[in-house]
Amino acid sequence: MSTPDSSSQPSLVQQSRDGDILILTINNPPVNAFSVGVPEGLKAGLDAAAADDSVKAVVIIGGGRTFVAGADIRTFDLPREQSPDLRGTIEKLDAFTKPTVAAIHGTALGGGLELAMGCTYRVAVPGAQVGLPEVKLGVLPGAGGTQRLPRVVGAAKALDMMLSGNPIRATEASQLGLIDRLIDGDLLAGAVEFAREMADARPLPRISDRSVPGATPDVFAAARQGIKKTHRGQLSPSLIVDLAEMAAAVPFQEGWDAEATKFMEAKDSPQSRGLRHIFFAERESAKIPGITKDTPTTEIRSAGIIGAGTMGGGIAMNFLNVGIPVTIVETQQEALDRGLSVIRRNYENTARKGRMSMEDVEARMALLTPTLDMGDLKDADIIIEAVFENMDVKKDIFTRLDGIAKPGAILASNTSTLDVNEIASVTSRPESVIGLHFFSPANVMKLLEIVRAEKTSDTVLATSMALARRIKKVGVVVGVCDGFVGNRMVHRYGDEARQIVEEGAKPEDVDASMNALGLPMGPFQMSDMAGLDIGHAIRQHQAKVAGQPRPDGWLDRIVETGRKGQKTQGGIYDYDETRRPIPNADMQKLIEDYRAEKGITPREITQEESTKRLAYSLVNEGAKILEEGIAQRAGDIDVIYIYGYGFPAYRGGPMQYASEQGLKNVVADLEKYGQTPAPLLKRLAEEGKTFAQYDAEKGR
Ligand code: 3HC
Repeated sequence: MSTPDSSSQPSLVQQSRDGDILILTINNPPVNAFSVGVPEGLKAGLDAAAADDSVKAVVIIGGGRTFVAGADIRTFDLPREQSPDLRGTIEKLDAFTKPTVAAIHGTALGGGLELAMGCTYRVAVPGAQVGLPEVKLGVLPGAGGTQRLPRVVGAAKALDMMLSGNPIRATEASQLGLIDRLIDGDLLAGAVEFAREMADARPLPRISDRSVPGATPDVFAAARQGIKKTHRGQLSPSLIVDLAEMAAAVPFQEGWDAEATKFMEAKDSPQSRGLRHIFFAERESAKIPGITKDTPTTEIRSAGIIGAGTMGGGIAMNFLNVGIPVTIVETQQEALDRGLSVIRRNYENTARKGRMSMEDVEARMALLTPTLDMGDLKDADIIIEAVFENMDVKKDIFTRLDGIAKPGAILASNTSTLDVNEIASVTSRPESVIGLHFFSPANVMKLLEIVRAEKTSDTVLATSMALARRIKKVGVVVGVCDGFVGNRMVHRYGDEARQIVEEGAKPEDVDASMNALGLPMGPFQMSDMAGLDIGHAIRQHQAKVAGQPRPDGWLDRIVETGRKGQKTQGGIYDYDETRRPIPNADMQKLIEDYRAEKGITPREITQEESTKRLAYSLVNEGAKILEEGIAQRAGDIDVIYIYGYGFPAYRGGPMQYASEQGLKNVVADLEKYGQTPAPLLKRLAEEGKTFAQYDAEKGR
């Protein structure tokens, strides 16, 4: 239908004609981000259209799989004069005197939607999605989004979209007036037809000329109240509310100018650097040296799970949620019944909250087959063992599985600490064995540590990575060591937390020091939730293995009083019915008596010291893990901590947080507080580098 431009100059924007309509096609794979070259191409296209009387209207469309997915995040740290001129392009569009039509498929996100809102009209295929996800990167819509979206969809909806960052479907956008026409079939042909219909319509309905519907003071007050809960401690959400309020209160140009200033403020904040780091780290973590798109994978059509306890049940739900049938095995009928009823109850709770229908509940339960016979796992494509942490029990299960599972089936252990090589060694097919470490609650937490054992085959690894994506987890590949990445670091962190209390702090002050960093739970709140007996058993076991005396710390003494945490209604803290931790005077006395007995004179420990010691204990262990090659990248460690342990994404994870503090300062503080800095950490500090630079230099 259209004829390509005669110019042979390579450009990210191609011009073509369909009669009196000029078509500008953005080609910047994979997602048509607004990189250098795109604004130049679009401006040149608009100039050509302005200069040619035979052009009646312009259509802007994305080549490939999507419209523009946003500003190019990789250019955020470039000096302003080298950055792609998104705002200038949109200003040019807004001032343009002929109709412009954005034709949207795939996703129009961030700068992509802002570009579309700078056009006179927007058309889209029904399956497209549009949104302003900037808040997820610690910034705000910086090319007119805060000023234009409220003018189109109203203050409340615009705030909802900009503060959640979640996109909406084109069908909804069309009902809101954000999309002028939905186009079934050929998008370009439909867009050209629409442009032709509108070619002579004047005046041009510019969004910047409109006012903001529904801009009552309580809408903004409610948004401010809401972000205290949803975005505690974050900068960009409050800037977004301020700017949306301006959109309603001041002329467009004033709001547009203010937005530019606030965007720079947010972009240059450590929070935005942290969130952008995680955006890329998450995508990098999916890349495994030696594993390519051509690495063969096997298809997972059915799963077997051994153990119907909290972990096994949660793991099963991940598979049921995406339609994969699960056979779940227990040794006792009672445990099996209990496991099934917990799964059902979880689904029914979700249905009660309106997030699932009862038919969905039944459909999922119908995919679940309970059994007491491990032999029923003979046809499963993957089998995940989720029984308690005991090497002998696991070895026994894997020996039996070796005789039951079909050839090529993946044999996975959900162990959180044990040696996967040793588990694999009892089978005749160690290449099929892998660790898949889910985090509790397994149906909620997004992290999956994928433990690559010595003999795990590439196919099993690649299949596990693909499976993680399919069940909507973030899979991070780690090597074998005690506790892998996450728990190895958390053990060290727990040691440090107990030490800080031993020296004089109160448990609640130690927890508060991590809450201040943005973690929803401090170390003691977390251990009370997980169960104090688990850590106690690990400490006893480790001491026994190392031939050391039985551990007798203050926390061991608490556990030995029978207080095991939330499951016994109390541990380090008491809990009320809302599970709020309340300091317990007897436990405080136990700690004081303990110090007196050991001859420790308590000293004042500041919140700053506590935060640094805890955060840096994670970083120091992380650096060792990195140097040993247990984690491939510092970024992987950050992803693990954000998705598995609630480390705030806006801090970028512990390694990025340390880089922000300056590794030299981290080393100095570790030494000041009596910890020995890991050799890698020391080296990077001496070289004045960050962990991100270390990753980049390693090409990982
Ligand atoms: N800038 C630079 N690179 C980007 C990018 C962007 N906006 N969006 C995606 N990419 C890169 C990814 O890093 C990845 O690179 P890789 O292959 O080297 O790892 C590649 O494009 C493909 O991305 P995904 O793997 O995420 O592909 P999916 O198909 O799963 O998802 C997507 C596509 C939904 C578009 C998703 O990439 C996404 O959400 N992107 C971010 C969108 C966004 O946040 N836009 C707003 C940017 S900020 C902005 O516009 C500021 C403005 O207001 C001034």
